[in-house]
Amino acid sequence: MFKIIEKKFLSENVARLVIEAPYIAKSRRAGHFIILRIDKNGERIPLTISDADVEKGTISLIVQRVGVSSHKLCAMNAGDFILDVVGPLGKATHIANVGTVLCAGGGVGVAPLFPIVQAMKLAGNRVITIIAARNKDLVILENEMAEYSDELIVMTDDGSKGTKGLVTQGMEEVILREKIHQAIVIGPAVMMKFAALTTKKYDIHTLASLNTIMVDGTGMCGACRVSVGGKTEFVCVDGPEFDAHKVNFDEMLSRLGAYKDKESENYEAYVKSCEATSLN
Ligand code: NAD
Ligand code: FES
Repeated sequence: MFKIIEKKFLSENVARLVIEAPYIAKSRRAGHFIILRIDKNGERIPLTISDADVEKGTISLIVQRVGVSSHKLCAMNAGDFILDVVGPLGKATHIANVGTVLCAGGGVGVAPLFPIVQAMKLAGNRVITIIAARNKDLVILENEMAEYSDELIVMTDDGSKGTKGLVTQGMEEVILREKIHQAIVIGPAVMMKFAALTTKKYDIHTLASLNTIMVDGTGMCGACRVSVGGKTEFVCVDGPEFDAHKVNFDEMLSRLGAYKDKESENYEAYVKSCEATSLN
């Protein structure tokens, strides 16, 4: 059992959970993720470790309420226990001093980007970070990102904070202004697809961290498979980061959409059961 030490909402639907997990805190590196189950009937939820405190023995996870399981997780509070937290999983980000790194995060994808920004800065790179969201209320980790970035650009689709525009517009402005040696993009799959197309035009080596459906997290079930450079890869063991210019994002988008109807059905049933419970 893993104790929740702290829970805080960063925006209306995004919560940060600090969980006691000393062994994971000690061995995790930027890019690693965990899979958790709230209880024995719970769905397996993959989440990137957004931060860790080795001395306190805690890890931080950032969760967006989108379906039944993430709603249940966000409803938990400090003092509650999570049944299983397995990790660290996946391959750590390759961190090196490459020069100037452009890190671009969209929406809740800013959370998994944070440890990479931190590690890239500590490795001596010039780090330019762009964090983008639909509106000002959805911007997360602004102060944390500012601490580890040489330059932080905030973008919103509606212009309610920072510069108005999509993350790709901000990326292109930076690329046209100065030499970028490497880019890292994390966010919704459609964002990563267009961010990859943007950097491809300028021949900038780019990594994308993929958020596919996952089940076992050990390379056995095949749920997380993606095509990268025409080859099948498993996000849980070969990733989560891949050369963004080689990922078949259209295939990934179609696989991500495959369970949408079922997820909506389950979610509606869950909302109804919550309403019925609160009426009784
Ligand atoms: P969102 O839809 O609000 O988009 C966030 C930003 O991405 C936008 O503000 C915009 O700047 C950019 N963007 C979106 N579509 C774009 C396009 N077509 N072209 C260029 N830029 C575009 O994001 P959200 O609701 O916070 O994201 C939720 C999604 O992110 C979920 O699908 C979730 O699974 C995924 N996610 C991915 C990761 C990961 O590791 N890749 C981690 C967490 C969440
Ligand atoms: Fe099963 Fe990756 S989650 S193979």
